[in-house]
Amino acid sequence: MCPTKGINTAGHLPTDTRLWPLKRYTEMHRRSLDDPEKFWAEEARKLDWYQTWERVLDWDPPYARWFVGGRLNASFQCADRHVKTWRKSKVAIYWEGEAGETRVLSYSTLFRAVNRFASVLKKLGVSKGDKVALYLPMVPELPVFMLACARIGAVHTVIFSGFSAQSIADRVNDIQAKVIVTADGGYRRGKIIPLKEITDEAVKLSPSVEKVIVVKRTGEKVPWTEGKDAWLSSLLDDAESLVTPEPMESNHPLYILYTSGTTGKPKGIVHSTGGYLVYNHSAYQWVFDIKEESVFWCTADVGWVTGHSSIVYAPLSHGAAIVLYEGAPDYPTLDRWWDIIEKYGVTIFYTSPTAVRMFMRSGEKWLQKHDLSSLELLGSVGEPINPEAWQWYYKHIGKEKCPIVDTWWQTETGGIMISPTPGIEAIPLKPGSATFPLPGIDASVVDTNGKELPTGQTGYLIIKKPWPGMLLDIYGNPGRYRRAYWSRYPNSYYTGDFAMRDEDGYFWLLGRADEVLNVAGHRIGTAELEDAAISHPAVAETAVASKPDEIKGEAIVLFVTLKEGELPSPTLKKEISQHLRKVIGPIATPDEIYFVESMPKTRSGKIMRRVLKAVASGQSLGDLTTLENEASVEEVKRAYEKLKGTKSTPKEA
Ligand code: WT7
Repeated sequence: MCPTKGINTAGHLPTDTRLWPLKRYTEMHRRSLDDPEKFWAEEARKLDWYQTWERVLDWDPPYARWFVGGRLNASFQCADRHVKTWRKSKVAIYWEGEAGETRVLSYSTLFRAVNRFASVLKKLGVSKGDKVALYLPMVPELPVFMLACARIGAVHTVIFSGFSAQSIADRVNDIQAKVIVTADGGYRRGKIIPLKEITDEAVKLSPSVEKVIVVKRTGEKVPWTEGKDAWLSSLLDDAESLVTPEPMESNHPLYILYTSGTTGKPKGIVHSTGGYLVYNHSAYQWVFDIKEESVFWCTADVGWVTGHSSIVYAPLSHGAAIVLYEGAPDYPTLDRWWDIIEKYGVTIFYTSPTAVRMFMRSGEKWLQKHDLSSLELLGSVGEPINPEAWQWYYKHIGKEKCPIVDTWWQTETGGIMISPTPGIEAIPLKPGSATFPLPGIDASVVDTNGKELPTGQTGYLIIKKPWPGMLLDIYGNPGRYRRAYWSRYPNSYYTGDFAMRDEDGYFWLLGRADEVLNVAGHRIGTAELEDAAISHPAVAETAVASKPDEIKGEAIVLFVTLKEGELPSPTLKKEISQHLRKVIGPIATPDEIYFVESMPKTRSGKIMRRVLKAVASGQSLGDLTTLENEASVEEVKRAYEKLKGTKSTPKEA
């Protein structure tokens, strides 16, 4: 390994040759893979268990069950455990509303709220194993409801508040949720998002829902269904102040979170209680080097896995102080985030490359008014960070004194998998590389046959051993679970990502290898978009590709053929775009819609995605020697020329 290639992050991560070889990290990683059960049992003892496990791991591929027979409760880890100590008066959550309101919850306030919300759910008849959907803006009630569900053994599904009624209904119906919690509305750039109305529309399509709990946020008048709807505030009037936590078997699901895959239907990723918490508790310490006095801010929405693990379960299980911000990053001005960092003295700041690129583009003037000297560590997540954005983040936000942890993980992995680990040992950084796998993670880059590739070659990232944060299953669809993750490589987890290891062993994550896009750090399947687009009455056929986007990483490009009699027009383009927003949500908004005469297809009827991608991004077809049973080189070229010639934007139409 070559030390000179590391970045000099003064003080914290010196490019001091004495750092090499990475002694502590290497020793710990080796030990964790030599005897995973011993290693993870030691980590698990850092949590409080009602009952110790009988076995650390049952590995019956493709199912791993961790800490079998052990009993614990997630809300106990995140609240009760701290109120027994001085942390009862420590800040748990600094909440900042979009309009600048502030609420501060101490651990004892959090504890009390979790108990009372749990009592509300219980009184509505929610019990162990029942499913509760949470469709809420970024208000403290969201993490409190998650912990309240966990307390009574109910399984939560958080639905990102940008999703449409149809998306809510799909998820709620899949798990047969009994209760939905929503708010009268949420704020986004000063505007109100009518969450209650959207929920009502979803409830019409979701017969399993017995009760809608409404959190008051905006105070606006909302439609009301007597008998079904209830204000949280009135339910709290009768709530008990103490609810005994349910001792949950380690492999009882803690939550289900939907994510996109290669088919039209999002998959319900099921996470466990014990394995998930143990993994996140440890990973959080290794990656963020969390200290009692840290103020941790992860800017993700709680509706994504980053929010579940890095806003709620990992930080709170450590008794850390977190910041929770309700609104948009650029509201009312582009320095809102820097203002928040200064206001709360944030020490660890964790955000996405998309956000970094957005701020980079808007210039440094927004930073000048603010004192960011509290920052000690920066994090990046959700998509590859390009070296230019990395350098800007390092220089202008971290003032060249904060290491950047580029953390690679997925909804399915539950927690961070590949990342620098300042909590174990300073690792010299290379901008754009997530560096090394965490202890317990046996990551490898392989070719299509599963053969490990030599350094410098791009292949598929797989994980060769189960780890405690690993998903339990896809809800209601074990077949899909096997197919998506375990069918390509025997007994190895297939990530769906391209990766490469360099000559120093560093991992470089290179984006999705499947038909899934990553738009602004959010995963969205091409099939999901195509299914939604085709439900528009004028559309005959659709295909989605992406084009590179300077800020969002990837942008959605939709190719459409129209039904007979329909004519391309700017209005129709707008309508189709609106339709996608309505069916999925604003994250599905295409950047570009092209009306084409026909889709480029192979003789077997498969759409030639490579052709679409090249046309969408205005690039040439590239190297055609690696064509895999797509079509002949000539056919691909012909299809490319034809599509380029016929694609029309409405302006030209
Ligand atoms: C996909 C997972 C838990 C993260 C939030 C997104 C991409 C994630 C990185 C990174 C390069 C990354 C991968 C992965 N990704 N982090 N640091 N560097 N790519 O979770 O929605 O489940 O998406 O995001 O492609 O497969 P997700």
